[in-house]
Amino acid sequence: MNVMGISGTPRKKGNSEILLRYALKPFKNNGWNIKIFLLSELTIKPCNACESCRETGTCNINDDMQSIYDAFRWCNAIIISSPVYYLNVSSQLLSVLDKHYAVKFDKPLEGKVGGAIAVGSGTSGGQTITINAIHTWMLSCGIICVPGELNGVKAVADKPGDILNQENWLKQAEILGFNILKVAKLLQK
Ligand SMILES: Cc1cc2nc3c(=O)[nH]c(=O)nc-3n(C[C@H](O)[C@H](O)[C@H](O)COP(=O)(O)O)c2cc1C
Repeated sequence: MNVMGISGTPRKKGNSEILLRYALKPFKNNGWNIKIFLLSELTIKPCNACESCRETGTCNINDDMQSIYDAFRWCNAIIISSPVYYLNVSSQLLSVLDKHYAVKFDKPLEGKVGGAIAVGSGTSGGQTITINAIHTWMLSCGIICVPGELNGVKAVADKPGDILNQENWLKQAEILGFNILKVAKLLQK
């Protein structure tokens, strides 16, 4: 079984990346294959609405999106984390989400399971809206959204790595991963 994770922060070793890695721990412990996409390392250019994908079924922009399309097809489960930027996902992540458009008729993620993580510096800093944005995209792709202990993970941290001092949020990310794993296993039966 395969799981993919996308970390939406442009910062290396950002809090989103750390939380994603914690959410993937239960999959590692269960022997799943894991692919992690760090948007701090990849170049994903935004959709330019050329609509050529309608003819070709893929995006003709030369960037790292092809490996993410492959992973959409490959995975059984998907976890997405994002920093909160102006009460929404990062623009780096939004480019990835928009570019699902090229493969939407193939429905590569339909019937798979997923979950979301958002981290912002403020308490009630827009984490709920960010989770909703990711969940709405997931539902549009036919993904079954799985909650953590309470909906998605809505973590609070500021500087890169600050989240490591907050055991509670690390635990919450792991619970989200565990729940996604549980539902994926149930669907497999
Ligand atoms: C452009 C920008 C916009 C931000 N907007 C918000 C916001 O609306 N709400 C919030 O709580 N934090 C906001 N933040 C703070 C980040 O969400 C916070 O530092 C978070 O920990 C970053 O996650 P990362 O370490 O994964 O990059 C913003 C930061 C930046 C750079």
